[in-house]
Amino acid sequence: MIDIKNLSYTYMKGTPFEKTALKNISLNIDDGNFLAIAGHTGSGKSTLIQIIAGLIDVPKGTVEVDGESIKNKSARRKIGIVFQYPEHQLFEETVERDIAFGPRNFGLSEDEIISRVDESMQLVGLDLALKDKSPFELSGGQRRRVAIAGILALKPKYLILDEPTAGLDPRAKKNLLAEIKRLHELGVTIILVSHSMEDIANLASRVIVLTDGEILFDGTPRKLFVHEKILNRAGLIPPAATKLLQKISRAGLNVNAEVLTIDEAENEIWRAIK
Ligand SMILES: Nc1ncnc2c1ncn2[C@@H]1O[C@H](COP(=O)(O)OP(=O)(O)OP(=O)(O)O)[C@@H](O)[C@H]1O
Ligand SMILES: [Mg+2]
Repeated sequence: MIDIKNLSYTYMKGTPFEKTALKNISLNIDDGNFLAIAGHTGSGKSTLIQIIAGLIDVPKGTVEVDGESIKNKSARRKIGIVFQYPEHQLFEETVERDIAFGPRNFGLSEDEIISRVDESMQLVGLDLALKDKSPFELSGGQRRRVAIAGILALKPKYLILDEPTAGLDPRAKKNLLAEIKRLHELGVTIILVSHSMEDIANLASRVIVLTDGEILFDGTPRKLFVHEKILNRAGLIPPAATKLLQKISRAGLNVNAEVLTIDEAENEIWRAIK
């Protein structure tokens, strides 16, 4: 479990550019959860996940992973973080070396490194034949997979992804989301930062909405998407399926608008008109 208590953070404190990014955030993330973090631009999402991963040291508040402070290396090792546009951080000469970089730094044996490279390439759907290629010969979507495989090769118990599908075409996006879903099914706890309410609807069991560094909502996507006050305040638009049923409901048909997907919407409409 990740246990976050009374976290506050201000960038450039004591300067004229001072900016409070997080205010007194407390939050527990249970093992096996698929948590989404939503919120407008500048609401504090990326700051929060960097603190959770131990990349920003906080003067106020604590982060504990399985009861151990994130200040400890062994706690930090349990968390993998995929930044926005992670492919920009590839730098090795071959795909294999890039994915092996983290495990090698951990001091694992060469045999273990080789098996982790293969395993994580398969997890993200990369052909093993690409191992000896330069990452720069690959497509953007493939490069992103290499970057994610490099994190998976560290076998994190908790995986944090910041807008992992940004800039991908619809097909690559769909594939990547399916892979994230599979990782979750394999037991990895997922924390997904996303601007896409459709993705959150399809994947997350819990969603946190941040506005101006505070938690405005913490609950299921189903409850969030019918909570108009919260949505308005946070500047979020519910998925098309939810919006459609809200419209139909306002027009007088007795439907429950708490649906997440097109299939659920269809079932609910059939139920109402039967
Ligand atoms: N390195 C930094 N120095 C100063 N201020 C920063 C820095 N990084 C973020 N901020 C400020 O802190 C606030 C929170 O930023 P953060 O990047 O966490 O938001 P976000 O929710 O991830 O936004 P986005 O959806 O645009 O990625 C913003 O007001 C931002 O301008
Ligand atoms: Mg961000």
